[in-house]
Amino acid sequence: MIRKKSIEDIDLKGKKILMRVDFNVPLDNGNVRDDTRIRAALPTIEFLLKNGARLVLVSHLGRPKGEKTPELKLDPVAKRLTELLGKRVEKIDYTIGPEVEARVASMNDGDILMLENVRFYREEEDNDSDFARTLAKPYDLFVNDAFGTAHRAHASTAGVAEYIPALAGLLMKKEIEELSRCLEEPGRPLTAILGGAKVSDKINVIRRFLELADNLLVGGGMANTFLVAAGYNLGASYHEQEQLSLASDLIATSKISRCRMVLPSDLVVTEDLKQNSNYKVLAPEEINGNWKAVDIGPKTFTMFGSIIKESSMIVWNGPLGVFEVPPFDRGTAEVAAAIAESSAYSVIGGGDLVAALEKLKLSDQIDFISTGGGATLEFWEGKELPGITALKDK
Ligand code: 3PG
Repeated sequence: MIRKKSIEDIDLKGKKILMRVDFNVPLDNGNVRDDTRIRAALPTIEFLLKNGARLVLVSHLGRPKGEKTPELKLDPVAKRLTELLGKRVEKIDYTIGPEVEARVASMNDGDILMLENVRFYREEEDNDSDFARTLAKPYDLFVNDAFGTAHRAHASTAGVAEYIPALAGLLMKKEIEELSRCLEEPGRPLTAILGGAKVSDKINVIRRFLELADNLLVGGGMANTFLVAAGYNLGASYHEQEQLSLASDLIATSKISRCRMVLPSDLVVTEDLKQNSNYKVLAPEEINGNWKAVDIGPKTFTMFGSIIKESSMIVWNGPLGVFEVPPFDRGTAEVAAAIAESSAYSVIGGGDLVAALEKLKLSDQIDFISTGGGATLEFWEGKELPGITALKDK
């Protein structure tokens, strides 16, 4: 397993620390709509403050592409963190420069401060070395707790580690441990469930789980692409035409792999993808005309449920239907309930699915919920994540 030095391995008292967090959270009218990622960073923040660090948080929010975008300022996030921490988190309008240096120089042990959105600077995503050096300048140490952004080689995730020692935060450490466990000590049978719209986003993770897992259950829009590749018509269903030959190759690989790939045997179809619109359940060979597949059907979720019951480890990324438009959320909800009931060790990743589980109030019945979306997929693919590579080895 990847072993990195963490904040538990050093004396923190009086240290000026720049900590990268992933507070890229959804906002609604200037308020944080889902604070999962903020809550996930609390153990690290509390540990650092309790041990006398002088803590400065840096994050991105959205994709402002170097523009100072008022709706993407981090003030609502600082406000929510203040509530969760029960301690005022001062937020300043700067990320680098003399104002930050002066403010950090006047901090006391146990103080906390939040900087402005680091993506207001184009140099951040360019991983510009001058910018990274300036960002690192006021601090003794860098702590990375932003697992969700660890797949980006940016100045505040990787570049900064060239100038000050870089350590893992507690969330980063836990993400590495839990996600590695699925790859390195998989409980058998290991069942991977993959959903979401696109095969193209998940090609490598599909390949990886075809090698590693015992069962690969496929749902969501990507199942349509596999079914069309397998020769079904599927009417007006969304699918990726340009991925059909790749999907055929993956089906062929599954036939010779140890892993059983299970595609939906029935689908919920509608002509009009709207809340509570008419729908019916059809087998793939029965779908034609204007019908669109928008969820897995009851035979399929019952089948998935019985495989889940027999599994001892489950990993899941991506919803299995159009979760945001009821009743096409049922497949995802039924599978989530089956996982919640099962005794298998379960790990779930990906923002959409995490929000779905929150809505279903099943999050606390999942053993580990990763804060990563793309980062979790890349970790499972076996890719090196620049934000992890940059940390000091243990
Ligand atoms: C995420 O939400 O997956 C991370 O915060 C990374 O955001 P990005 O895709 O804009 O780099």
